[in-house]
Amino acid sequence: MNELDSLVESATQLFAQSATPADLENAKAQFLGKSGRVTELMKGMAQLSVEEKKSRGAAINVAKQAIEAALTARRQALADAELQLQLKAEALDVSLPGRQRGQGGLHPVSLTLERIQGIFGSMGFDVAEGPEIETDWFNFTALNTPEDHPARSMHDTFYVEGGTATAPNLLRTHTSPMQIRHAVQHVKKHRAALDAGQAMPEIRVIAPGRTYRVDSDATHSPMFHQCEGLWVGENVSFKDLKVIFTDFCRTFFESEDLVLRFRPSFFPFTEPSAEIDIQFQTGPLAGSWLEVAGSGQVHPNVVRNMGLDPEKYIGFAFGMGPDRLTMLRYGVNDLRLFFDGDIRFLSQFQ
Ligand code: DAH
Repeated sequence: MNELDSLVESATQLFAQSATPADLENAKAQFLGKSGRVTELMKGMAQLSVEEKKSRGAAINVAKQAIEAALTARRQALADAELQLQLKAEALDVSLPGRQRGQGGLHPVSLTLERIQGIFGSMGFDVAEGPEIETDWFNFTALNTPEDHPARSMHDTFYVEGGTATAPNLLRTHTSPMQIRHAVQHVKKHRAALDAGQAMPEIRVIAPGRTYRVDSDATHSPMFHQCEGLWVGENVSFKDLKVIFTDFCRTFFESEDLVLRFRPSFFPFTEPSAEIDIQFQTGPLAGSWLEVAGSGQVHPNVVRNMGLDPEKYIGFAFGMGPDRLTMLRYGVNDLRLFFDGDIRFLSQFQ
């Protein structure tokens, strides 16, 4: 083997032994670099004659091209090997089962609120929602509960910024302020008809939502839910309230075996007022009277604050506790379970 062939061979061998691109570049320098062996051979031609230079130069060039080809081939081989490694490292096993996110579902109280809306919706009631931060006017005064009224003491709540010094804004203690808010909107919408002496469509609405009081034990939570109901028209009576509420309870609890009792009570915004109790005739809760709502005929002062003439319009209202209805429906005895956020409890309702 001549000198040039063995040069090509030793370059090819050294390239093959280079395990990384950096090694390979070092190996290349030994042959093709500024003072590499091929370059040295070129320099060594200085003393040769023109004829000799021609043939020697051509031979060196052939060797140089062979070395460059070997280099390129090795570079490609190293890049291929690296790509293979990377592909292997990033390989996805598509046969692995995916991680489940879980289905999620509605909170039991949300299920109850949906049920309430569905049932009253089918009886022609609209659904209204209002602010949880309320003014003193809507929460108390407009509901016939002026500043010095003793009933306010049962509604101790959380006061927030806004309002006036003597009547600061507050977290609403009940959904009853929605009676006024909704009725005022309704009256505004039908103002022209009213002014023209025409009949106003009846107000029939429920208003579910969160409410707040300074109260906390197994059956009271500082945040709880209420659902207000209001029915105002020219020809509505207590009988209508009894009929719809009885219908509601029987549908909600899926039991015809359920009786209602209207027990005289007091609320500043209704006169007369009644607590609504229910009694199951069969099943685990049979026998005892269970309080589910407050109700009554809307007080004339409240009708006036709705913008209506109490001589012409009469209203009936009720306010129930969806949390309590949920406890009764599912047999839960501690209200706090609803708000602890324990997935083991909540997932039982899916
Ligand atoms: N707002 C009352 C409460 O939280 C409940 C209530 C009683 C609502 C009578 C009414 C009603 O609409 O007519 O204690």
